[in-house]
Amino acid sequence: METVRSPDELRYWVESWRLESRSVGFVPTMGALHEGHLTLVRRAAELADRVVVSIFVNPTQFGAGEDFERYPRNVELDSELLQEKGCHLLFLPETETIYPEGHSTYVDMGAPAERLEGEFRPGHFRGVATVVTQLLNLVRPDIAVFGEKDAQQLAVIRRLVRDLHLPVEIASHPTVREPDGLAMSSRNAYLSDEERAAAATIYRALSSCRQHIEQGERSAQAIRHVLREVLLQEPLIDLEYAEVVDAATFEPILKIRSSIVMLVAVHIGKTRLIDNISMEIDG
Ligand code: PAJ
Repeated sequence: METVRSPDELRYWVESWRLESRSVGFVPTMGALHEGHLTLVRRAAELADRVVVSIFVNPTQFGAGEDFERYPRNVELDSELLQEKGCHLLFLPETETIYPEGHSTYVDMGAPAERLEGEFRPGHFRGVATVVTQLLNLVRPDIAVFGEKDAQQLAVIRRLVRDLHLPVEIASHPTVREPDGLAMSSRNAYLSDEERAAAATIYRALSSCRQHIEQGERSAQAIRHVLREVLLQEPLIDLEYAEVVDAATFEPILKIRSSIVMLVAVHIGKTRLIDNISMEIDG
């Protein structure tokens, strides 16, 4: 595995693969890699001949008072894991490469970036859209793989690619979970044992709603109610939002039909966690 920091070195490798007619898959990350990230790397390796992974803790997607400074960073361990999983090139851009002095161009998103995460983390998707646009332009992959764990981010990126005609295919992969259902996340490392046990309630609440829908419940309001009720039973959980939305628009819905996503954001102690389950409903 090659490790590069500059756009020139990155271009050198990607262009040499292009000359050999090899396709390029890309997985952007912020590091502190876990099995969720590594599954995306394996998926990229199935979809393309060569795999590029980037690690960049992007300052512009963190708000004031969020965890940018304490976000876990462990490039050495990440690098070993990537090598084992068949990554061909690790791109570690410097902050000055992505945001050089005088950088002033941002990608502003309308819907579907305005609600939910967009509402509770103002500016978050502007930061995500800006860095992802830059990374896609730097790497120029044929295909980029994102996790369904961040369902709204995935929707935002699909919209971004469509609206700006970016020449890349976007692939996604289902959320990888711990045995008790908690979605894997770099932020799980912040949780104390007690908080970690409480965090399992998030997936329990989502699964319970999925079961209600499978048994025929079609009122989105009733589902929101169940979601909130299960979450609020856990005293360590401070609920931010629990919503049921249309998967394409991320607008709240009244009736459960076609493609929906149930999404949750909570605080447990100082840690903010998000999760979701999407469903396809027949008829
Ligand atoms: P990060 O949180 O590091 O996630 C990188 C990718 O891994 C994202 O596509 C995310 O959805 C996916 N991922 C995280 N946890 C997962 C899990 N448990 N199962 C499956 N996939 C999972 O998301 C970001 O970084 C950043 O916003 C980024 C896109 C890199 C832009 O800075």
